[in-house]
Amino acid sequence: MSTDFSDSLPQRLQFMLMEVTTACNLRCPGCRRTNRREDGEWSSRFMDLATARKVLDNFPPISHLIVSGFGEVAFNPDLPDILAYARDCGKFRIIQINTNGLARDADYYRMLIEHGLNYLMVSVDTLDQDIADQVRTGTDVNRLRRLLHDLATFRIPVIVSITVSKENLEGLPSLLREINDIGKFTVGVREIGDMGQPERLLDSDGEIRLARLLMESLPLPNLRIAPPKCLQAKDARCVDPWLRPGVTVDGYLTPCCWTNDADLFQRLSMVDMTWEEAWHKPEHLEWLRAFREAPPENPCKGCTRDPRQFGGLWQGSAFELYRTLD
Ligand SMILES: C[S@@+](CC[C@H](N)C(=O)[O-])C[C@H]1O[C@@H](n2cnc3c(N)ncnc32)[C@H](O)[C@@H]1O
Ligand code: SF4
Ligand code: SF4
Repeated sequence: MSTDFSDSLPQRLQFMLMEVTTACNLRCPGCRRTNRREDGEWSSRFMDLATARKVLDNFPPISHLIVSGFGEVAFNPDLPDILAYARDCGKFRIIQINTNGLARDADYYRMLIEHGLNYLMVSVDTLDQDIADQVRTGTDVNRLRRLLHDLATFRIPVIVSITVSKENLEGLPSLLREINDIGKFTVGVREIGDMGQPERLLDSDGEIRLARLLMESLPLPNLRIAPPKCLQAKDARCVDPWLRPGVTVDGYLTPCCWTNDADLFQRLSMVDMTWEEAWHKPEHLEWLRAFREAPPENPCKGCTRDPRQFGGLWQGSAFELYRTLD
């Protein structure tokens, strides 16, 4: 589907990411939450059910809803009810959460499936405790390993997300082998972007090394691997502000899931207006027009989703899921 980068309301959104938490049990050094918290610029909050219902009501049908945030969703006490509402309103085919997998056990995730969850992404940057202490500070790798064994038995799609920085790059082959030994998974490998720790990013040698390590790791018969951005085709412009908006924990619209800065659109509340109304607000359209000219430093600097920065090696078709939606 080609994207019409115009002022016209897009016909169909690809996904919407709703931030339902800014509270977390980990202190990953690359994460915006950790960095802002250390600077005293963060508050840990949850989106409540009433707010989530209004936000969901104000969006049109979207094939894919992602419930996540700069935080851990499993701490939100309203999460089961939010998922159930998303399922019952019938607008979303895929209802996904992103989780670090360390706040709850497998029974909790089974309960979420009863409430409407049908797609789960779990972050596993390493299963080596020493590396985890560096890149996913607060992680108990044995607990994560146990959860992965349980998730391997789930019938819904489970995506293992690996964010690669200088610290866990060399451990990638052994991590992939271990995940492959645990069970059938779809694995998304992506490079870390700059959310406040630029020294941890891969440089161009690191990206080539990443490509080589991935190739050398194959075959991994149990895994379907989504290639990192440095291997994917370049594109002229990021489509996210047109097709993949975000909503903050307070219900404000943002251009994408990379940012939770409500001020970019001068605080357009998705609690109080529909997506169509928000789209046509001058503050929104003016931002899009400026973005067409040049993506702004805030939020785009350091963003790994910017397709102009992709490496252009991968020209293949989209990756496949291991488990599919019923
Ligand atoms: C912000 S977290 C929220 C969900 C959950 N707390 C987790 O860690 O999976 C979503 C994803 O962003 C990734 N992430 C964190 N910092 C990042 C960065 N600087 N660049 C790219 N991805 C990052 C995490 O590894 C995780 O897979
Ligand atoms: S677990 Fe997720 S939200 Fe929490 S600090 Fe790590 S990347 Fe950020
Ligand atoms: S380039 Fe990144 S930060 Fe900028 S709009 Fe796209 S996804 Fe958002």
